[in-house]
Amino acid sequence: MIKEFNRVNRVNGELKLPGDKSISHRAVMIACMADGVSVIKNLSSSEDVNSTIKCFEQLGCNFEKNRSTLKVYGKGFKGFNRPTQTLDCGNSGTTARLLTGILSAQDFESELVGDQSLSKRPMQRIVEPLRKMNANIFTSNSGTLPLKIYPSVLKPIEYEMPVASAQVKSSILFAALHLNEESTVIENFSTRDHTEKMLGLRTSQNNSMKKIYSSKKYYPSSFVMNIPSDISSASFFMVLALLLPESELLLKNISLNPTRIGVIKLLKEMGGNIEILNASHEKNEEIGDVIVKSSKLRNVEIDKAIIPNIIDEIPILSIAGVFAEGSFKITNARELRFKESDRIKALCENYKLAGLKVDEFDDGFVVNGNLSNETVMFNSYNDHRIAMAFAILSTLLPQGGKVTDFECVKISNPSFLEQLSLIAS
Ligand code: S3P
Repeated sequence: MIKEFNRVNRVNGELKLPGDKSISHRAVMIACMADGVSVIKNLSSSEDVNSTIKCFEQLGCNFEKNRSTLKVYGKGFKGFNRPTQTLDCGNSGTTARLLTGILSAQDFESELVGDQSLSKRPMQRIVEPLRKMNANIFTSNSGTLPLKIYPSVLKPIEYEMPVASAQVKSSILFAALHLNEESTVIENFSTRDHTEKMLGLRTSQNNSMKKIYSSKKYYPSSFVMNIPSDISSASFFMVLALLLPESELLLKNISLNPTRIGVIKLLKEMGGNIEILNASHEKNEEIGDVIVKSSKLRNVEIDKAIIPNIIDEIPILSIAGVFAEGSFKITNARELRFKESDRIKALCENYKLAGLKVDEFDDGFVVNGNLSNETVMFNSYNDHRIAMAFAILSTLLPQGGKVTDFECVKISNPSFLEQLSLIAS
């Protein structure tokens, strides 16, 4: 579906967004591993989290859904059923990578598949450490899905991560939960820490080096949790409120985990008027209301260390950068090439369509110049975050704009259009 967007003059009001996608995936997985019934409130409505639920249904878990509340009947330690068919992870890298960690420790064989985009994404990054734990995993010749996992006797690992990836970290920590002896994951860059927080894993920190320990001792029990609202979905509306005149937006109960608020930090550094109110905690996860007001932005240098903490928000941050004083430049972000699309290419090609000057690097790009006055048809590359970023840019253009295959936004936020129409005038 090609979606057309008219120019928006201002945004005002309040939004209460569905639960954070990363936290929701983990809540479902942890509840399924636990013995007994867990209750997850404000679950993400994303297609990706549905992919996780469907995979665990095939592993014998039962779910009862009532609006945004999910009741999960967990299977307990090694209680999963052998799946009779392939497990379809859809578009979801988090489902595929975290589930592989859990399945590596089971006494049955399983096979993971995914859609066209997921089937191109690198899986070697999880296969390599899991094989060091003795896992019996096979990928396609190009190191991608389909992935076959056979039973094996796992052993603990001490693993220093070569890429900044919370998915790799979590996959190892989940596999290690099935062993008596402790495993250690070492990261030299801070990536989102929901897995260790939700499982209550022991951690130690020495400057930028963090060690996370996992073993059977931390195997989860059933729980009740209210998922904080998704900061990545919120970031599209934050940027819109900052860029439009006479705008003020209240975003309720947002996930403010320190490893996820890079987007707020950077927008504030750029001159954004953003305030946090009512800060509290939900099961070790920080939460609060965010107020965003119209601001004059200027581009700043983006430090390498913050990249893993803004990795999903770079598309929309670059839109803020296009309207800010100076040029928007991002480097050290090669990981963007391995997301739902090659996001460096997707951003650069779309900016060229909008008449901007772009210089593409292997690990980033720089963009500046004047936006075209014509209606532009942007390509979503079937990538939800690219689609939403260019929807926001379209609403800021004098003649509006169009975005291809816009239905792909359901991957993270199926209600994006309703939310936009609720606040826009
Ligand atoms: C995620 C981790 C990040 C992020 C993805 C969700 C997670 O991926 O881009 O959208 O939930 O762990 P990487 O771990 O590959 O960086």
